[in-house]
Amino acid sequence: MSITAEDFQTVQKYLFEQSGISLASGKEYLVEGRLQTLVHSEGFGDLHDLVVALRANSVNNLGKKVVEALTTNETSFFRDRHPFETLKTAVMPELLKGSSTNKQIQIWSAASSSGQEPYSLAMLLEDSFAWATDWKIHIVASDISEEMLDKCRAGLYTQFEISRGLPAHYLPRFLQREGNQWQVKPKIRDYIDFRYLNLFEEWSGLPRLDIIFMRNVLIYFENDTKKAILEKVLRVLKPGGYLFLGSGETPVGMENRFQPTDFSTSACFKSTPS
Ligand SMILES: C[S@@+](CC[C@H](N)C(=O)[O-])C[C@H]1O[C@@H](n2cnc3c(N)ncnc32)[C@H](O)[C@@H]1O
Repeated sequence: MSITAEDFQTVQKYLFEQSGISLASGKEYLVEGRLQTLVHSEGFGDLHDLVVALRANSVNNLGKKVVEALTTNETSFFRDRHPFETLKTAVMPELLKGSSTNKQIQIWSAASSSGQEPYSLAMLLEDSFAWATDWKIHIVASDISEEMLDKCRAGLYTQFEISRGLPAHYLPRFLQREGNQWQVKPKIRDYIDFRYLNLFEEWSGLPRLDIIFMRNVLIYFENDTKKAILEKVLRVLKPGGYLFLGSGETPVGMENRFQPTDFSTSACFKSTPS
């Protein structure tokens, strides 16, 4: 059954208010497809019944489940490769040469989806910078989806997920067999704290960051929302800190505060004073 224009607008408005995600007209097919599973699992007769319950806020946690169903969680290990190369060959060596008095490097994987991005970062750090024993290197990974965060914390991946981007020699080093899946070893998991954070709300409890990976999430927001998020990035990123966006993404409306680096194949930007 096709979604009515009124029901689509209800979902559009709800999603925006809860997450900042902008669902353009023409995406009716996406709402129909993604909410179908929820219609069945929550025992609704059809999509319209679900939207009525959403409007009336009459079913516990329904709103959260709708938002989760409508977010795109596509990710993979070492996605796009180049940002990780840049981190390894340029950014980390520069930071480790610096004169930070407390010898800490704080990294944030914002919108970490099912965890492949923060685990890729942790594996890279363990592989290339384990020698920096007098430094404390820490990763915060966050997402709006509790379902994704559960997957992150479990650190369990199928063979198919492993085959998407994980270097072959990392498999025995950093993961172990768990039934018919692979689980990230505690040594790698210990680098990361996973937590809920909605980029569209106020951010609290983040450390001052040296590096932010905010990749493939700003694309879901309108320009005003992107700008508001990038303004918040400047409040938590140290001056001269690095922001990695998805390939092809740019700091829209904030170009004067994020200088493109000369690491040409990565969407990597250095924060500059106002
Ligand atoms: C396409 S994935 C990107 C994953 C990873 N950063 C990458 O590049 O592979 C987008 C993620 O953004 C999350 N997301 C969407 N809106 C969000 C919001 N308002 N706050 C935090 N996370 C959000 C989704 O739940 C999803 O996991």
